[in-house]
Amino acid sequence: MARLLITGGAGFIGSHTCLVLLNAGHDLVIFDSFVNSSHFALERVAHLCGISSCEQNIRMKIIKGDIRDQVALKNLFTDATDEDRPIEAVIHFAGLKSVSESINNPMLYWDVNVNGSRCLISTMNKFACTTLVLSSSATLYGAPKSIPIAETASIQPINPYGKTKAAIEQMLSDLKGVNNNWRIASLRYFNPVGAHPTGHIGEDPLDTPHNLFPFLSQVALGKLKLLKVFGGDWPTPDGTCIRDYIHVMDLAEGHLYALDFLLGNSPEMIILNLGSGIGHSVLEVINSFKKTTGKDIPYEIVARRPGDASIAVADPSKAKEKLGWSTTRTLSEICQDGWNWQVTNPNGYSERIV
Ligand code: NAD
Ligand code: UD1
Repeated sequence: MARLLITGGAGFIGSHTCLVLLNAGHDLVIFDSFVNSSHFALERVAHLCGISSCEQNIRMKIIKGDIRDQVALKNLFTDATDEDRPIEAVIHFAGLKSVSESINNPMLYWDVNVNGSRCLISTMNKFACTTLVLSSSATLYGAPKSIPIAETASIQPINPYGKTKAAIEQMLSDLKGVNNNWRIASLRYFNPVGAHPTGHIGEDPLDTPHNLFPFLSQVALGKLKLLKVFGGDWPTPDGTCIRDYIHVMDLAEGHLYALDFLLGNSPEMIILNLGSGIGHSVLEVINSFKKTTGKDIPYEIVARRPGDASIAVADPSKAKEKLGWSTTRTLSEICQDGWNWQVTNPNGYSERIV
């Protein structure tokens, strides 16, 4: 079993992936600035894995820091080597992910996402740690010309956030060109949603959510009054946009498969879509949520949201072929688990259960 560095491991996808990796026997060093996450997420991960406080420093060491801080990164790799447990691979989640914030503050996104990744990757290079699983995003396809979207589709990001993800992939491809020791999996996520089935960990947006699922859950809970459905005149069967929603536990397991693939094969850079290959419209999501939870969802159809694409659905066949991974959880399980998290934690991690 390997010792892994997980940047952004306290976040939504990172925390679920930490759980999967710990259960698979890996030991983790988790590096996070906590700018968009809570320590409680990691306490709950430890609890779910049955890791006691005395085991915690060995199984999941937590370090607060920023990926743009090269001294902190260097210390982290040096300390791991001094402990005689060097870091064998990195799973890199840390970054900022709001499309609207990236439009309003593009320099912050280039700094945190691109410069931060550059700092991390150059430190890894110095310490000859050359195995990396990267959080990329389907957002870099922009408005795709054909559906389902294969990895060969053109890269045409339409917002700064998407451009930073495309730039990180390009940087890694250039690095791979001069150092063939690198093993890289860039995972292009579609729409990650849901929560761990226990309801102990889930997505905890700091402000009013902008994404469909967290907004929907808060309407069902009564915290928000009405869901605005952005556009009822899209060229889809019911007129609302179609997306490929992927349960966060399926996504988390995808990282373990990607890591196993990289460590078990000759060095290569692979780029993979992680999605279900199944599209659901906004109205289908609302109906499934209502059916699964028994909650009413007041909604109204309003104007289209600028920047939305009509349909975004993955062709996930390459991930299946390369990794043997595919999603197993349904939209109904996504609704059930997401709702369970929301009901148990109406105020997110500010209410402790362990
Ligand atoms: P998240 O915000 O919950 O997690 C990101 C984590 O990174 C947080 O814990 C945050 O505190 C940390 N972080 C941010 N800036 C940092 C910095 N400078 N140094 C150290 N830590 C920092 O987001 P998430 O949904 O878990 O997303 C994880 C990754 O997946 C991100 O790179 C995101 O762009 C990517 N992604 C997310 C989605 C999605 O819909 N959630 C879709 C596609 C790709
Ligand atoms: C958005 C981002 C994408 C990012 C992803 C992270 C945009 C344009 N895209 O994807 O880059 O990777 O979040 O999860 O912001 N919807 C409503 N009402 C709402 C919220 C959403 O109708 O209140 C609709 C949207 O129009 C869309 C669907 O629900 O059709 C899903 O929206 P969302 O959850 O925001 O994800 P994306 O827009 O697909």
